[in-house]
Amino acid sequence: GKVGVLFGGRSAEREVSIMSGTGVLEALRSQGIDAHPFDPGQRSLAELAAEKFDRVFIALHGRYGEDGTLQGALELLGIPYTGSGVMASSVAMDKITTKILWLKAGLPTPEFAVLDDASDLPAVAARLGLPLIVKPPHEGSSIGFSKVDAVDQFGAAYAKCAPLDDSVLAESFVSGREFTVAVLGTGAGARALPVVEIVAPKGNYDYQNKYFTDDVQYFCPPQLDEAIQAEMRRIAVEAYRTLGCEGWARVDVLLRDSDNRPFLLEANTSPGMTSHSLVPMAARAEGMSYEALCVEILRSARL
Ligand code: DAL
Ligand code: MG
Repeated sequence: GKVGVLFGGRSAEREVSIMSGTGVLEALRSQGIDAHPFDPGQRSLAELAAEKFDRVFIALHGRYGEDGTLQGALELLGIPYTGSGVMASSVAMDKITTKILWLKAGLPTPEFAVLDDASDLPAVAARLGLPLIVKPPHEGSSIGFSKVDAVDQFGAAYAKCAPLDDSVLAESFVSGREFTVAVLGTGAGARALPVVEIVAPKGNYDYQNKYFTDDVQYFCPPQLDEAIQAEMRRIAVEAYRTLGCEGWARVDVLLRDSDNRPFLLEANTSPGMTSHSLVPMAARAEGMSYEALCVEILRSARL
């Protein structure tokens, strides 16, 4: 049937989504699938309905694409779509709600506080210690993110973050190695792909070097005890199931240097599919090509 690849969109990650969607579109076409691009950032839901897609591959990131709003529209239009449903999409887009659910499930995630104002930061720093990570709870790709090492950086970190979101999240900084775990499948069938380690220059895995430089090194498999990798994969699948994710997602994990304890950072329910992206890298380590990955994700599309 006719497949739509939804990409572009209206979020701060529009540019990333265009790269993801272009890759997915080409991959699906190369497999003989009748795939067509559709940009909900430029066209209306009425136009989407008029396309009469049999199903859609969501290659959108961030708000109005990954956050449950589009998923709700697709439910109303009766168009099967890839990835998580309305609730898991919207929960995963909110890092605060995500962390509350993980803590409730006994899963490890850094301590945190929600800030109403920059003046809240000293009290939070007193409670959680420094450094702190300050970030908008509903953005991706490190947009609006700061690491705060000293009290005189509070104002700048808050000012960078606050205009992007309706609340500001402060999280304890975990000094450790950075990993990600892709999860494919749904319910009891959910399984983790191999762990990917990310080694960024000076620990700075920011927007620029996530997508536009070759300064970041990726290791899959990483040089890391097998048992710890297995534990990271286990908790990633649990984290995914706790949020009710479906189809596919990517769970970001830090491994604390002091005790090799893993901490869950966030789940991405519509992860990047660019040439620099991590889910394709993990799939490749398992012998699954980018094309095969796209087809497997598309096959999981449902209402
Ligand atoms: N938010 C970006 C696209 C990712 O998680 O891959
Ligand atoms: Mg993210």
